[in-house]
Amino acid sequence: MKDSDKPAAATSDIHQEETPQVCSYEGSDYQEVFWDTGERRYEDAVEEVALKRLMPKQGNLLLELGAGAGRNTPRYAGWERIVLLDYSRTQLLQARERLGDSSRYVYVTADIYKLPFVGGLFDGATMIRTLHHLSDANSALANVRRVLGEDAVFVLEFANKRNLKAIARYLLGKQKWNPFTKEQVEFVALNYNFHPKTVRKLLKENQFALEKQLTVSHFRINALKRRVKHEILVALDSLFQHTGGIIQLSPSVFTKSVAVGSGQKPEGDAFFACPICDTSLPEARENQTCPGCGHLWTYEDGIYEFRINPES
Ligand SMILES: C[S@@+](CC[C@H](N)C(=O)[O-])C[C@H]1O[C@@H](n2cnc3c(N)ncnc32)[C@H](O)[C@@H]1O
Repeated sequence: MKDSDKPAAATSDIHQEETPQVCSYEGSDYQEVFWDTGERRYEDAVEEVALKRLMPKQGNLLLELGAGAGRNTPRYAGWERIVLLDYSRTQLLQARERLGDSSRYVYVTADIYKLPFVGGLFDGATMIRTLHHLSDANSALANVRRVLGEDAVFVLEFANKRNLKAIARYLLGKQKWNPFTKEQVEFVALNYNFHPKTVRKLLKENQFALEKQLTVSHFRINALKRRVKHEILVALDSLFQHTGGIIQLSPSVFTKSVAVGSGQKPEGDAFFACPICDTSLPEARENQTCPGCGHLWTYEDGIYEFRINPES
């Protein structure tokens, strides 16, 4: 079983001094190699089940954080508008090719640690297979909370360090790190697994009220996937997902939370906020110079550029 999402072709680099290192997917064939070969048909199907169970059937403005090539975007069909945000421009170009250009989709390259939106803008957010690459989960969640309105829904998936395979390997002496301790484990550079209690604590500290937890991908074992009929494995996983409300022992956990406490409210047509100086900017669909700091933010190929030091 390959635990890491990060494709071999991807590189990591330090993009900004004051924010944590970004796990770069620029130029990566992640979607093609990791998903489109069909080897992870089971994982894809059980994630679809979890999202169906957790996401509101409809909503206004949704933020998809670490959207990648837009694998999950069609699953948010009832939402009026979706902002696909990713650090990688090439991933978003793939997403745009898949989903097309329409006023329903807004493509934004930006860093989750420096979200370029005015406070309280969104009615919902998802972050799937992305916390996995964030060394500073607390800062990332604080950023997410800032751009969500009160009562907004947040569906967060994380890689669970306290999963059955990790526990067995640890007890058999085949794995050094302890799956029961609360700190995150970086098992490959910029790939982190989290303890469920730590994620719950971070959500609470960042003004998220946890409503539901689903355990997902219980049968992520190649031998099983080869021998057991796909539909049966998916049905079994769907059944087991509900055990997430009691204990989390699967490699992937989906959580649904609601943003609580007071926050900012967007004014007028303000949509973006300059990630350098925080000045509000409209959704212009063209290049714009920030009136606050003079930085030129470009709009090219239907993608808003809001990375401070883009690599491409
Ligand atoms: C494993 S992929 C998941 C893509 C998609 N959510 C899915 O499930 O198919 C992780 C994505 O997170 C993005 N990412 C990683 N760190 C990021 C950051 N600091 N800011 C924005 N995007 C980031 C990567 O570029 C990559 O596209």
